[in-house]
Amino acid sequence: MRKKLLVLTGGGDCPGLNAVIRAIVKSAEEFGGWDVWGSIEAFNGVLADPVNIVPLMSKDVAGIHVKGGTIIKTTNRGNPLKFPIQNEDGSWSTKDLSQDLVNVVKDLDFDAVINIGGDGSQKISYELYKKGMPIIGVPKTIDNDLGATDFTFGFSTAVQTATDSFDKLVSTAESHHRVMIMEVMGRDAGWIALHTAIAGGAEICLIPEIPFDYETVLNQIHKRYKKGKGFVNMVVAEGAKAIGGNVVGSHSSEKGDEHIKLGGIANTIRSKLESMGCEAQIRCTILGHTQRGGSPIAFDRILATAYGTKAFEMAHQGHFGKLVTYENNNLSMSDLEEAVKEYKFVDQDHFLIHTARSLGISFGEV
Ligand code: F6P
Repeated sequence: MRKKLLVLTGGGDCPGLNAVIRAIVKSAEEFGGWDVWGSIEAFNGVLADPVNIVPLMSKDVAGIHVKGGTIIKTTNRGNPLKFPIQNEDGSWSTKDLSQDLVNVVKDLDFDAVINIGGDGSQKISYELYKKGMPIIGVPKTIDNDLGATDFTFGFSTAVQTATDSFDKLVSTAESHHRVMIMEVMGRDAGWIALHTAIAGGAEICLIPEIPFDYETVLNQIHKRYKKGKGFVNMVVAEGAKAIGGNVVGSHSSEKGDEHIKLGGIANTIRSKLESMGCEAQIRCTILGHTQRGGSPIAFDRILATAYGTKAFEMAHQGHFGKLVTYENNNLSMSDLEEAVKEYKFVDQDHFLIHTARSLGISFGEV
C-alpha cells in the first residue's frame, strides 16, 4: 500500500522554504511508494473544515527552489496548542486543539508529517510528537537562532540582502559625511547584524546579547569625525537595547500572534544621539521584511534541498520526533526534545565577535 506524507511550513517565512518542499516531493517520487500532500497555512489546513490540504507532485514543485516564500503558505497565528477562538460574545480565548489535530492526521491516514519551521514551530512539533504524531522537524529561520543546528536556511540570504543594502548605504554615508543606522531583524539573537557588520565593514554593531551604552556609541562616532568630515555605518539588530533600557516595539493586535512586533530601535538611537549633541547628520534605514523575501542564495538552496531529502529519508526510515540538523559540515538529526531546549545566542566568545573586535568594530559596551 502507498504511504502518505504531509508537509507544512509554519511561522514566519524565509527564503528556501520552497526548496525544501521541492526536495521532499522529488525524493519521495524518486524513491517511490509515497504520496506527498501539503497543508495550507501550517496546521490550519488540517484544522480547517473541510480540510485544506493539496497533493504535491513533481509538476507542482518544478523550479520552485529559486522562488522566495512558500507555495503552501504559512502563518504565525496557527499554534494548535493555543488556537485563537472567538466566543459568542465577540471576545477571544484560546483552545488546545493539539489532540484533535493528531486525530485528524491519523484519520487522514498520514504515515509521516514534516514540519518546516523555527523554534516556535518545532516546540509545537515536539508536543504533537508526544501526543502520537509521527512528525519530523526541518529548521528554518533567518535569525539562525536554533541551537541544534549550525545553520538554518534563509539566514545566509538575509545576511546577503542586508549586506547589499549596507554597501549602498556606505556610499551615501561617505558622500554626505553622515551616520547611517541600518536596522536588521534579530529578535533575541544578533547573528544577522554581526555577520552583516563584518561583511559590510561597519564601525558599530549593536546586538541583543550586548546591551549598549550611548556614550560609547557617541565616542565611537566622534573618533571617526575627529580628523575632519568622516562617516559612520552602524548596523543594529531590532532586538538590541541600551543598558538598563527596553526593546523598541509594540504588542500585536492580531489574535493568536504572541510576539511583540519589534522595530524602531534605529530611530530611538538617532533621537538619543542627537539629544546628546551628535553633530553629524544621522539617517535610519529599517530593512524589515525585505530580509525574509526573495530568491534564496545558492548556499540556502543547497542547504534547504539537503534538509528536504534528509527529512524524507528520515520519514521513510521512521525517525520520528527528530529535527534534521547541519553540524560540522554534515547533515545529522537531533531529538526534538533536546533541540527545542537549545537557543543559539551570539556567544561573547564566538570567533566572529573576536573578528569584529580585532577590526575595531564597537558593540557599544562600556
Ligand atoms: O523570527 C524571525 C523574525 O524574522 C524576527 O526577527 C522578527 O522579529 C519576526 O520574524 C517578525 O515576524 P512577523 O512580522 O512575521 O510577525
